[in-house]
Amino acid sequence: MTISISRRGLLAMSGVTAAMIASAKLQAAQKAAEATGLKEAYKEDFLIGAALNAGIVAKQDPKLIALITKEFNSITAENCQKWEEVRNEDDSWKWQDSDAFVNFGVQHKMHIVGHTLGWHSQIPESVFKNKDGSYISKEALAKKQQEHITTLVDRYKGKIAAWDVINEAVGDDNKMRTSHWYNIMGDDFLVNAFNLAHETDPKAHLMYNDYNNEQQGKRDATIGMLKRLQKRGVPVHGLGMQAHVGIASDMKNFEDSILAYSALGLRIHLTELDIDVLPSVWNLPVAEISTRFEYKPERDPYIQGLPKEIDEQLAKAYENLFKILIKHRDKVDRVTFWGVSDDASWLNNFPIRGRTNYPLLFDRNQSPKSAYFRLLDLKR
Ligand code: GLA
Repeated sequence: MTISISRRGLLAMSGVTAAMIASAKLQAAQKAAEATGLKEAYKEDFLIGAALNAGIVAKQDPKLIALITKEFNSITAENCQKWEEVRNEDDSWKWQDSDAFVNFGVQHKMHIVGHTLGWHSQIPESVFKNKDGSYISKEALAKKQQEHITTLVDRYKGKIAAWDVINEAVGDDNKMRTSHWYNIMGDDFLVNAFNLAHETDPKAHLMYNDYNNEQQGKRDATIGMLKRLQKRGVPVHGLGMQAHVGIASDMKNFEDSILAYSALGLRIHLTELDIDVLPSVWNLPVAEISTRFEYKPERDPYIQGLPKEIDEQLAKAYENLFKILIKHRDKVDRVTFWGVSDDASWLNNFPIRGRTNYPLLFDRNQSPKSAYFRLLDLKR
């Protein structure tokens, strides 16, 4: 007598269930994806970037460099190209960190983003003022701007692929920010900056970059400003949404904004993505960078580690955002995280100093978090 037992029957007899097989397959796929990293998983969608600080580039920690080169194909200069970092007090240039950053990108064949050619912050007051405290003339500031932008862009021509030309020109009141730049030069501050960058490196992709500009009020104001620039023939190619958001942010804003900005003919970039998990001390996720609030223990609840349910909420927030980005991948060129791992995030010190935050995909040991796996899962 022959007894025929199906494969399924055999497996059942050995205690292996279909669910176990499915789970093993899933784990194998996860391992394979993790082995190649995010940049590979998203290669048909958009570039995956990270902001690098000068310390990371200088230290060359092999483990961290391996992580960066596996996960990211684009890098942004976190600080080293800001006016107060790249110039000495006497206005002479201080190239060491910026050169090292660009060389790192060239060495690893990465898409390099320069940041930033015009910003109201991290720039000395002396740029805008005479010795007696009065403002310098529009002509004098335009001359300084020209020297600054042409020197920087020319130095890295052919290496830096894209520039955040102007950062944060719209204020929290959704009007043009009354920065020294704007007070002295008006819209010409932006017009000149884009024209100078374009004349110096016609191949560079030129972006306008801001925070909270995925939200309707600032989006409308930004679109008004961009239309004025476009009317004057200004070469703006891309729109950067910094995307410093909170764990409870409504990600739908990004979808509306991707559509609205790309209708102006601009390519879309998420330029500084991180998701703050700590209790918010204001009603906007991010406002003026110089703002600080008082430290209180209840504002810093996860010193001992991130609770499982918050880790899951963070993963879900990243998932919601990336679903939108993937859906509009024909319009989105790049998604850059503001840093690599939680330990080095600026959000440990903003808007309150000395907290323990968890905004990125890699934890304090540079191990991937649930959010990282969730983003890989989306691409399977
Ligand atoms: C802004 C700037 C960045 C950086 C972040 C905070 O978004 O564009 O250069 O300073 O704030 O680190």
